Amino acid sequence: MRVVSVVGARPQFIKLAAIHRVLVARGHEHMIIHTGQHYDPMMSKVFFDEFDLPLPNLNLNVGSLTREAQIDAVSKGLKLPFTDIESDWILVYGDTNSTLGAALAAKRANLSLAHLEAGVRSFNQKMPEELNRLLTDQMSDLLLVPTEIALANLENEGLAANSYLVGDVMTDLCLWSKQRVLTQKPSMPEDWETLNPYIVATVHREANTEDSTKLKEIISYLSRSPIPVRLLVHPRLRDCAKKFEIDLNTGSIKTFEPMSYLQLIYAMLHSKGLVTDSGGLQKEAFLLGVSCVTLRAETEWTETVKLGWNVLDPNCRLDLEEHFSKVLDPTDVCPFGVGNAAKLAVEVMEVKS
Ligand code: UD1
Repeated sequence: MRVVSVVGARPQFIKLAAIHRVLVARGHEHMIIHTGQHYDPMMSKVFFDEFDLPLPNLNLNVGSLTREAQIDAVSKGLKLPFTDIESDWILVYGDTNSTLGAALAAKRANLSLAHLEAGVRSFNQKMPEELNRLLTDQMSDLLLVPTEIALANLENEGLAANSYLVGDVMTDLCLWSKQRVLTQKPSMPEDWETLNPYIVATVHREANTEDSTKLKEIISYLSRSPIPVRLLVHPRLRDCAKKFEIDLNTGSIKTFEPMSYLQLIYAMLHSKGLVTDSGGLQKEAFLLGVSCVTLRAETEWTETVKLGWNVLDPNCRLDLEEHFSKVLDPTDVCPFGVGNAAKLAVEVMEVKS
């Protein structure tokens, strides 16, 4: 089988790592196209190095653009490469502008399209990611589904026939990485060890960063936390804070550059809890047994909320010290699979190719 993966943003490199290992182990040919949506070394190259991924066969270097221009640049940039490509599957991942741009290019070139992490919904169409998901799922010939809830969403949208529940490939990598950091500590930034205990925080969603009032509210909230906060600064947060003249290193907050995946897993495992608006981190916190507060009104990963490990706090109301001192009930439930999702996904691609 010949699979062409199109990736461009941080969470996609992590998913790619899980899929690449299985494709190679099963003797398949794997071509990697990087759109260039994320380009800072700590947002891109570090993941290729950490997971021994080969350099991409092609990089479109689309860079930072508006949403429309980014989607357009990816789909136009793939037009030529896709005209003479031979592939069993064009594989796209998750919900980014790169995902939708690549899906459009694949269908325009009449190539078979598979979507990994299909069926995930926040039911908030104001999020760019939600539209990317809905449209990509509609166009895909094969839907590789992470959870029962995502499968039910696709059934409700009339897409059951091409949908296969395989589990979440992020689980594969998260569990592997947990074992790895428990035996081999990654090198952490200077100052890391001296600041105990701590909360890990990340903020990057458009709704939380592009609105100056909202961003000020979030930074003020974190700065008042009785537990020190280690804020891992995504480039969008860095740029917006600069634009709105908001000092991120204030009160309880200490900022750090974005981390490698192994550093992040280590940081979370040793934290009192996580405050985030990221999708992937909510799940990783659950898998690592770390309590999570999500600064959004809704979540795609409702299982984490139902099982008591994640609380939605869109208006920054929770008392973080009280919240993170609660002892949560351990659970054996595995809504995101048991760590074999990439293998199951590749098996489905083999059968359907
Ligand atoms: C994207 C995805 C989101 C995913 C996130 C992970 C979309 C719509 N959203 O959001 O689903 O959770 O990636 O990080 O695709 N920038 C840099 N250097 C970089 C990358 C970005 O400086 O390496 C800056 C640029 O100013 C850019 C901004 O960050 O304009 C936002 O980046 P963008 O690619 O639009 O999306 P993310 O917010 O990262």
